[in-house]
Amino acid sequence: MNTNGGFDVDRLVEPDRVHRACYTDEAVFDLEMERLFHKSWIYVGHESQVPNPGDFWTTMIGKQRMIMSRGDDGRVHVLYNRCPHRGALLCPEQHGNAGKAFRCSYHAWQFYMDGSVRQIPVRDGYDNTRLSMDSPDARVKPAERSGSYRGFVFASLSADGPDLETWLGGARVAFDDMCDRAPDGEVEVVPNCFRVVQKSNWKIFLENQLDALHPSITHESTGVAASAVERDYEDRTGEKPPMSYGMLSAFSLPFEKWDSLETVGFPHGHCILQGYMGLRPRDPDTLEYEAVMEKAYGKERAQEILGVNIHHVLVYPCLSVQSPLQQLRAVRPLGADRTLTEIWHFRLKGAPEAIYRRALAYYYHVNSPSTMVNADDLHNFWSCHQGLQLDGGEWVSFHRNAGQDTETDGVITSVTGMSEAPMRNQFRAWKEYMAAGA
Ligand code: FES
Ligand SMILES: [Fe+2]
Repeated sequence: MNTNGGFDVDRLVEPDRVHRACYTDEAVFDLEMERLFHKSWIYVGHESQVPNPGDFWTTMIGKQRMIMSRGDDGRVHVLYNRCPHRGALLCPEQHGNAGKAFRCSYHAWQFYMDGSVRQIPVRDGYDNTRLSMDSPDARVKPAERSGSYRGFVFASLSADGPDLETWLGGARVAFDDMCDRAPDGEVEVVPNCFRVVQKSNWKIFLENQLDALHPSITHESTGVAASAVERDYEDRTGEKPPMSYGMLSAFSLPFEKWDSLETVGFPHGHCILQGYMGLRPRDPDTLEYEAVMEKAYGKERAQEILGVNIHHVLVYPCLSVQSPLQQLRAVRPLGADRTLTEIWHFRLKGAPEAIYRRALAYYYHVNSPSTMVNADDLHNFWSCHQGLQLDGGEWVSFHRNAGQDTETDGVITSVTGMSEAPMRNQFRAWKEYMAAGA
């Protein structure tokens, strides 16, 4: 039994159901920040958000406000957003360029982009005191560990645990698939992102990402309306409708289609939904893009890359990535009942402009706060969070296809696309993180 600050992790999480306190209890939330978000690797941002020396972008890891910065030497750093003098926020802005150094607005201590001291006013006042200029107490504290995988920057506030690549494991495919689809082998962020504060627990958002049962129901009205427009377009013009309509009509796919997909769960809670987006249209834009890819990679490798059939990758507990359409959503929990999501998209370097427009269309039509798709999801998240606070039941059910998953070397494969295996896998990891700090 793991008793943690008045509650018992073993009793909150069972293999096929979890207690509602996991979503609603602020004490559970505080412990999640301490044992999960402050221990695990968390996505900070993409290197292309800080292309030039002096550039910075601020974000959060759990409860900690952090800065991602680019130094004169070209290296990317992740620092706590705190001045070591009297503790002021060093960077109140979201992003910008600090020039040679960060300058605290209170007493003008200055720091290089790696956090080391550049200048302290009336420095001789520190002679014969306990604070020396080269002591760690005088510099801006860096994250205990930081690293980048194919341009995607992560940091951990814990010195212990697996290295970034080992921790990512099978979830590396999110970044490999996205970058490999670029003829130049890398992607570039499109600034800025949408920021949405959801009035619901952060786990509700992540669980929904690989919930392949909900689209045909939650997004039915969008899917049916888009299908009708597609038919009308074809009747009127005799031509195939633009691909962006298909992004929405796909939501009216029948259950059988979603069930034919497969989910794979990896250690540390990461999961993949395979299938669906592997569609390969033969329109002129795609053919032009494929020709550029073949020139860059050779025919065989290009076909291998374009054939990767992944719809969604969940990097637990912080990211939802749709690599074939260069979409990424980062989760920043604010409280048990409030979650900030950052909605980003990327440009494939070296790809024709039309392929970028496709990513932009998906960004606007499906993932942005203004779409019917996202609005319907947000309604469900809010609705679940409201219901979970009622005394009408203690448990949240993840029973669908429970006991039918196959597990080999810690990798779990579901029997159907609509299995609740990904949610069970996320909570298996949650429980391990939460118990580990006890
Ligand atoms: S608090 Fe930053 S210089 Fe004083
Ligand atoms: Fe949805």
